[in-house]
Amino acid sequence: MQILLDADYLIQTLKNMADSAVLNLCRQKRCQGWVASTSIPVVLQEAGASEKDFQSLLQDLAVLTPTAHDITLALGSDKPFAKDMAARLVEANGLDAVVTLSPENYSDLKVEALTPEQLQEKLDAPPGPVQEVRLLDITASYHQILNAVEKEMAETIRSGYFILGPKVAQLEERMAEYCQTKYAVGVSSGTDALLIALMALGVGPGDEVITSPYTFFATAGSIIRAGAKPVFVDINDITFNIKPEHIERCITSNTKAIIPVHLYGQCSDMDPILQLAEKKGLAVIEDAAQAIGSEYKGRPAGSIGDMGCFSFFPAKNLGGFGDGGLVTTNSKELYEQLKIIRVHGSEPKYYHKVMGGNFRLDALQADVVTAKLGFLEGWTEKRRKNAQTYHQLFKNSALNPFVQLPPEVFPGHVYNQYVIRAGNRRDELRTFLHEKRIGCEIYYPIPLHLQDCFQSLGHKSGDFPESEKAARETLALPISHEVNRTQQEYVVAMIQQFFLGE
Ligand SMILES: Cc1ncc(COP(=O)(O)O)c(C=O)c1O
Repeated sequence: MQILLDADYLIQTLKNMADSAVLNLCRQKRCQGWVASTSIPVVLQEAGASEKDFQSLLQDLAVLTPTAHDITLALGSDKPFAKDMAARLVEANGLDAVVTLSPENYSDLKVEALTPEQLQEKLDAPPGPVQEVRLLDITASYHQILNAVEKEMAETIRSGYFILGPKVAQLEERMAEYCQTKYAVGVSSGTDALLIALMALGVGPGDEVITSPYTFFATAGSIIRAGAKPVFVDINDITFNIKPEHIERCITSNTKAIIPVHLYGQCSDMDPILQLAEKKGLAVIEDAAQAIGSEYKGRPAGSIGDMGCFSFFPAKNLGGFGDGGLVTTNSKELYEQLKIIRVHGSEPKYYHKVMGGNFRLDALQADVVTAKLGFLEGWTEKRRKNAQTYHQLFKNSALNPFVQLPPEVFPGHVYNQYVIRAGNRRDELRTFLHEKRIGCEIYYPIPLHLQDCFQSLGHKSGDFPESEKAARETLALPISHEVNRTQQEYVVAMIQQFFLGE
């Protein structure tokens, strides 16, 4: 539960620090407590407490700051300012209640007001039935990241440095460290990360690039946009990633690069790909858009090939508040080239030696990603735990003949998606789960070789049977770090009801 602590309760807490039931609940992470910044001076004065005392409260509570617009509205309201502001902050920030010693003060405001005892009762009550399980609830982490994001964004807004600049450089440094690469270059999207990586290698008309047909459109779309031809190699039916043993037969004198995709958050089998690339003099670009933090034999995604491409699309494990992306590399030459191409090939400014584009990353997006990076390890752990929970629940469910689970072939899967196979009843199952208010999605319903815009490549149905089968059978279930065990039990119970009528 997310609660705002009323000034009266904060005053009492400051006067009697050792005995605050609500503070203890926040410490135990049974709820998250917030303080309205506008109440701090009043609380300090009324409690006769020092700033240091208040600071110690903030080890367990976070601060909510109203906008100037909120303040204007609260000042213009006919309710007392502090109460109106508390109610306004609860509503605007999606909190659950105000905790106060005098709930009657909130009786004419649209907010739930609880005494500390009522809060305790609510938290002790058994959970009600599951109402909904969203595939992804982007706003659910909002409370966790708010203060960290605010800090970064306020610095940028005050600095006026909105494109590239020190905040993008800060993110690049942290991402390089996170991915264990020498360099990282922030760019405008994951799609542009792929395109700029190809451009940095000099891939263009007449060239061929090998990749998987079972991926998001951008992987092959970027190859076409670079002027080259995508050459598809089918996937492994267990990992959903490119089959390394089929790559060699597709290499021609025009082949310049291989783009293995770490689909759903599990790395492709990189060793045979790297060996082949070395033997044939090809570059390897990892499409790690879905795989931040994943590992292949102890090596982080993005540090294995010549370059790694990441996406900060909001639905990714590390998403921004809009579009963004990043390329990692250990090569100084590629790094220099990427930085030049990112700004229209300009070096120095207004002197253009190569063709580039506007691939710049906004500082505000870099701020969000930097702030969220501090939470990524914890979120990834929770995704991995959720995957284990699904495995257990499915194992105990007699669904074995109907549902195939995603195995972790290379330890270090980060489960951007938890994708099951549901055979030829996949579409029916999807409809059934939607009716039960369970989010689920098909990634991807049509493999790329059968997309209309790739008709000129001359492919037909049957060319890549494993990709086509996966497109018919797969279904992604809710796995994000906000999903809890009760919700997972509900998901599996509903799948059981669908297949077994239980
Ligand atoms: C495998 C893959 N490659 C590339 C991209 C493109 O990233 P973006 O949406 O940031 O352009 C995505 C994102 O959806 C993706 O999943």
